[in-house]
Amino acid sequence: MSKPIVIAIDGPSGAGKGAVTHSLAIKTGFHILDSGALYRLVGLAARRDGIDLDREEHIADVAAHLEVAFLPASSGPEPFQVLLRGQEVTDEIRTDAAGVDASRVASMPSVRDGLAQLQRAFRKAPGLIADGRDMGTVIFTDAAVKIFLTASAEVRAERRYKQLKNKGMDVSLAALLESIRERDARDASRLVAPLKPAEDAIILDSSALSLDAVHEAVWEVVEQNVSLGANSFAE
Ligand code: DC
Repeated sequence: MSKPIVIAIDGPSGAGKGAVTHSLAIKTGFHILDSGALYRLVGLAARRDGIDLDREEHIADVAAHLEVAFLPASSGPEPFQVLLRGQEVTDEIRTDAAGVDASRVASMPSVRDGLAQLQRAFRKAPGLIADGRDMGTVIFTDAAVKIFLTASAEVRAERRYKQLKNKGMDVSLAALLESIRERDARDASRLVAPLKPAEDAIILDSSALSLDAVHEAVWEVVEQNVSLGANSFAE
């Protein structure tokens, strides 16, 4: 029996992957893997356990035994309610500090290995939309379509600024831009699974596009590259 289809959406933070993933999941009825959330959860779990974020062997242990659940959210901007060890942490993992911690633990090879199996277990019928940095290059190399969604650091910082402001968080645009640049540099220069498009990825730059235009462009790519019966798509 053939494996369920995977649509890989990779790219830097703030390029619009989350929104695109969510809308594709609604259109197709596919499951979602938010792999960035897993790295954020590892960082948070390690902090809660009082583990120094330089101690790779301890953090790898946290990753290998990560107790998480993603429950469909009934309201709000997030598609899921995220639980860590049975406790809700949906908003806590979305802070900029949690993103920086995630990027640190994500540079550790044994942490990435510890999460690989968990990520592949999300692949279930009728299919999966996988959002991350290495979905097409490492975790699902056989993905039916690989999209690398990107945008300039300035545009991404501005989008993130608006998102956090809307959530009532107190943030500075300049600090966000600096943090995005640092995170990009760390994600792209790490030795394992660095942030880069797969050789067979389709690259989409969303800098000058509205969210609607990004969704349209992505949907066009999916329709052109994924051969599914019309009945497989939710109306
Ligand atoms: O997508 P995000 O902002 O939630 O990801 C948080 C961090 O996790 C990001 O800086 C890089 C890392 N990450 C990764 O290395 N590999 C993934 N597949 C997803 C995220």
